[in-house]
Amino acid sequence: MSGYWRNWINGEWVDGGAGWLAVGNPATDEPVYEHACADAGDVAGAVASALSCHERGLLVRMRPIERGRLVQAMGNWIAEHADSIADTLTHEQGKPLWEARNEVAGACRYFEYYGNQAALIEGRSIPLGADYLDYTTLEPYGVSAQIIPWNFPLEVAARSIAAGLATGNACVVKTSELTPCSSSCFAKAAEAVGLPKGALHVLTGSGPAAGAALASHPDVNQIVFTGSVATGQSIAAAAARTVVPCVLELGGKSAAIVHDDADLEAFETDVRRGIFVNAGQICSALSRVVAHESVYDELVERMAAVARSLAVGPGIEFSEAGPNMGPMISARQRDRAVDMVAEAEREGVDVVTGGRRPDLPGHFMEPTVLSEVKPEMRVAQDEIFGPVVSLLRFRDEAEAVRIANGTRYGLVAGVFTMDLDKAVRATRALRAGQVFVNEWFAGGVETPFGGYGKSGYGREKGREALMNYVQTKNVAIRIRQR
Ligand code: NAI
Ligand code: MG
Repeated sequence: MSGYWRNWINGEWVDGGAGWLAVGNPATDEPVYEHACADAGDVAGAVASALSCHERGLLVRMRPIERGRLVQAMGNWIAEHADSIADTLTHEQGKPLWEARNEVAGACRYFEYYGNQAALIEGRSIPLGADYLDYTTLEPYGVSAQIIPWNFPLEVAARSIAAGLATGNACVVKTSELTPCSSSCFAKAAEAVGLPKGALHVLTGSGPAAGAALASHPDVNQIVFTGSVATGQSIAAAAARTVVPCVLELGGKSAAIVHDDADLEAFETDVRRGIFVNAGQICSALSRVVAHESVYDELVERMAAVARSLAVGPGIEFSEAGPNMGPMISARQRDRAVDMVAEAEREGVDVVTGGRRPDLPGHFMEPTVLSEVKPEMRVAQDEIFGPVVSLLRFRDEAEAVRIANGTRYGLVAGVFTMDLDKAVRATRALRAGQVFVNEWFAGGVETPFGGYGKSGYGREKGREALMNYVQTKNVAIRIRQR
């Protein structure tokens, strides 16, 4: 065990009512850290402190440009400590060290981006003639509850913390019980820059206990969640009872349509980044490739070559960006993915490469390429959340779009072609919150992100996300004429 970690509630490092949580290293299947485990009482304490911070106006009364400066300073603090944070992230989450460093940098970018915009949350004035002065202000909700997954614990938390604080909300963050330790950087950054006490709380605990207590707390005014559909549904049900808005980002089954004129060599990089980064545990993963029949066989070969080129091993050994992949988060997630592939194989799918658990101690899965997948199969419908990509075949554009749109999800989609007309037609026809043309994961912190269908509702990232954290107040003033 290399240390223990505590929750940060009301500006103090505290133990948890639910004892201690062993955090495992996915690469070795051995405990690596211990983290204090919060219970409903700890959550209530954090919410009470956040509410008090809000009611005393500690964030709201601050001049926004000053508040934004604090948010930016938090990002700078995290950037200065990037190496040790990335090291912790790799130890608890498994991803290659270079990916962990990229994630820390990505987290910092949210503080930079939203910190910069704190002063840009402006209302407008509405003309009503001589007898009135009417204007809107955008006010923070108050207490923002943020429930974070384990796949990108830092980036996902950073985007809601930075936007939440920039708009003046006191944030209570429930990190994933699988990856709680790296997130202490947010608390340490807040402490270092002098964020007002109570403006941020970072705690962990089990989903059904601490998570559910936070989602259903009557003093929470707004909820942000990223994770599974089932958990999103229970959070939305809790939010319905307390009548608060929530933003749900629930993953996907995203498809790239690859036309016969696409740059297939370049597409290898999209496959590498799209499905094998983070061992495929990405909500917007490139999990299906819908290939034109004339390039299908070549794509199978190229994608299999990408998969076979990857060194699979402990993330801590991969400090250089390269063809490598770490373990999955847990045995449960890995076994589920392996089982889904085995089921597909029984249904006639060709496991071109991978599909099994390699002979390594941690939660590893081989990089996997499946071909001859049919649209209705479970591997083509359900999120696998592992390093598994499915190839499907199309003959014409209409069929390609039908297959791509043919799941309950709609997070992102892609189209790969040199023909502008084809590309634009696809961007219009694809049902997804974001469509990539000729580069998977094009876009950045500046671009709105979120789902159609069961991928959720509301948008994270971009200026649009700021609207999740504010409510409109209209001020209508009667002016007496002399
Ligand atoms: P999950 O949705 O259960 O967990 C995500 C977060 O929700 C964690 O912080 C967890 O503690 C919390 N949580 C769990 N139950 C809760 C409840 N009843 N009330 C409030 N909070 C609760 O995800 P899980 O079980 O770890 O993974 C299962 C599947 O979910 C994955 O295979 C994947 O398909 C999907 N997933 C999608 C993610 C995305 O980025 N959209 C991230 C993580 C998982
Ligand atoms: Mg769950």
